[in-house]
Amino acid sequence: MMETEQVWTEKYRPRRLSEMVDREEIVKRLETFVKTKNMPHLLFVGPPGTSKTTSALALVYDMYNGNVSGNYIELNASDERGIDVIRSRVKEFARSVPLGEVPFKIIILDECDSTTEEAQQALRRTMERYSNTTRFILIANELYKIIEPIQSRCAVFRFSPLPDNAILERLKEIATKENIKYEEEALKMIVEKSEGDMRKAINFAQGAAAIEGAITVKSVKDFIGYAGIGKIDQVFEKAFHGDLEAAINTLNNLLYNEGIPPREIIREIHKNIMQASFSSQEKADVVSMLADVEYRVRSGGDPEIQISALLAKISMLPSEKRRKQS
Ligand SMILES: Nc1ncnc2c1ncn2[C@@H]1O[C@H](COP(=O)(O)OP(=O)(O)OP(=O)(O)O)[C@@H](O)[C@H]1O
Ligand SMILES: [Mg+2]
Repeated sequence: MMETEQVWTEKYRPRRLSEMVDREEIVKRLETFVKTKNMPHLLFVGPPGTSKTTSALALVYDMYNGNVSGNYIELNASDERGIDVIRSRVKEFARSVPLGEVPFKIIILDECDSTTEEAQQALRRTMERYSNTTRFILIANELYKIIEPIQSRCAVFRFSPLPDNAILERLKEIATKENIKYEEEALKMIVEKSEGDMRKAINFAQGAAAIEGAITVKSVKDFIGYAGIGKIDQVFEKAFHGDLEAAINTLNNLLYNEGIPPREIIREIHKNIMQASFSSQEKADVVSMLADVEYRVRSGGDPEIQISALLAKISMLPSEKRRKQS
């Protein structure tokens, strides 16, 4: 990708609420705030790439009718050097009065779930202190990591993965605007690999387009392979065909050289298992073992040992397909 080329996720980030695809329920609720020029503190929760930041920025844009400068700030709860920095920036920001007809200014605070409980308690006090003149939009991936006193002071909005057809339509729209040819099959592949994450989908599309000047099945495969994703499928494939050693070598390469998070590997193996031609008894056994592995890794178990054990089990299963092949 050329460095001067603009990143599509930013170039095509909807500016207004009305430009967003899908998310009808959320947009409807947010538009009421715009209409009444009033809103409570908000808490946006959901997985990556599901419109949280986009909705927050679009709400700000519509609320101030495009005159956003000076009326909002965006802070990152985990980037900033602790809650003291956030507190002083909020204090400074809240000191000046809002410009225009809206009686409050907006503070967008991203990645709230990556802060400690203590920091969240301090944040709650800060929210209360300045609630006359400010409203917070807190953003998090997981609700359970947000302390209850904050949850109860906010209107909670849940963002679920975007539906496949919404992503597909958006990719077509972007490709058309960019004057990039695409194969329908290729876009469908991207949609499948993105699992409801719009950012991932748009990045895949731009990456594939950069390889060939078009989004084709081949350029998508090349790009996804390059990004290390197709490689997880290989781990499963090798175990499935009985080559445990090769499977474990590939696994270690992904874990230690490519730095792919264990939970991503486990998730992909799960998908592979569901699609593989195991007998239903075999599938049940493997999935139940996979659930244990997932749990152990999440509670601090060694990913290499845990996933290898799962691969060993897969490589030992006398599934019908492999018996035919060997
Ligand atoms: N509803 C939407 N309509 C059109 N494009 C969207 C929509 N939601 C997201 N996008 C696109 O996907 C990109 C990522 O979305 P966004 O930044 O809102 O994700 P997020 O939920 O904040 O994710 P994260 O938790 O990783 O920060 C945006 O830059 C935009 O291009
Ligand atoms: Mg975001």
